[in-house]
Amino acid sequence: MYDEIARFIKERTDIQPVIGLILGSGLGDATEVIERPVFINYRDIPGFIDTTVEGHKGRFVVGEFKKKALIAMQGRFHYYEGYGMEQVILPVRAMRRLGVKTLIVTNSAGGVNPDFSPGDLMVIQDHINMTGVNPLRGRNADDLGPRFPDMTYAYDPGLRRLAFHKAKEMGISLRQGIYAMMPGPSYETPAEIAMLRKLGVDAVGMSTVPEVTAAVHAGMKVLGISCITNMAAGILDKPLTHEEVIETASKAAHLLTSLVFSLIQDL
Ligand code: HPA
Repeated sequence: MYDEIARFIKERTDIQPVIGLILGSGLGDATEVIERPVFINYRDIPGFIDTTVEGHKGRFVVGEFKKKALIAMQGRFHYYEGYGMEQVILPVRAMRRLGVKTLIVTNSAGGVNPDFSPGDLMVIQDHINMTGVNPLRGRNADDLGPRFPDMTYAYDPGLRRLAFHKAKEMGISLRQGIYAMMPGPSYETPAEIAMLRKLGVDAVGMSTVPEVTAAVHAGMKVLGISCITNMAAGILDKPLTHEEVIETASKAAHLLTSLVFSLIQDL
């Protein structure tokens, strides 16, 4: 299936992307800076994900930024929406088939580390999969990668160093920490957040882990950056709202996307 999707995309552009971009919800229309863009709607791709589950709008944007060929997902698929894990990772596998070697993933996350504040950016050092499901479960895609992929350097140390180097140059302050994926869609209870804190988690969200696991399986280098949009449940004595998450994400979007695109120039 991912081969066919890759072929469909290849037929529509002469650009051969080597960098993949997955932008988190509320993190802005970063794709506007992409040059020579070709838009491919998810719903037009045969064999792609049935986007009726959530009335999903979404598309790939293939293009260039400062001579770097890239493909971005405008709209991603979340496990909490009801998609199967194999669907959530399908775009990443198609990207790999297209020739993508580096994947940059951003997301919105709740701050579990009490030293964090809403608006902070956090380089993902490592993750904990709290969904109880591994997206690679089932028959192995031998043509993509091994049955038992190593996750020791899932978040590429070189890319993380580059992120810190760039951020310093740009005067952007960056955190680093452990991201835990919870299945959602309800936000966590304060007891769950207290548990995650004991486990060494710094930020919590409902995405990213499946895509990163699939990318590592397929031999891609990954950089993940979380935007801390709110303090996780129970860290502060107040309820949290989706509006707060979206508002903080859109405020930080500019910083995050300028960091990401400045990084891309150096890849
Ligand atoms: N929990 C889970 N996912 C999130 C949060 C949160 O607090 N904030 C943004 N995404």
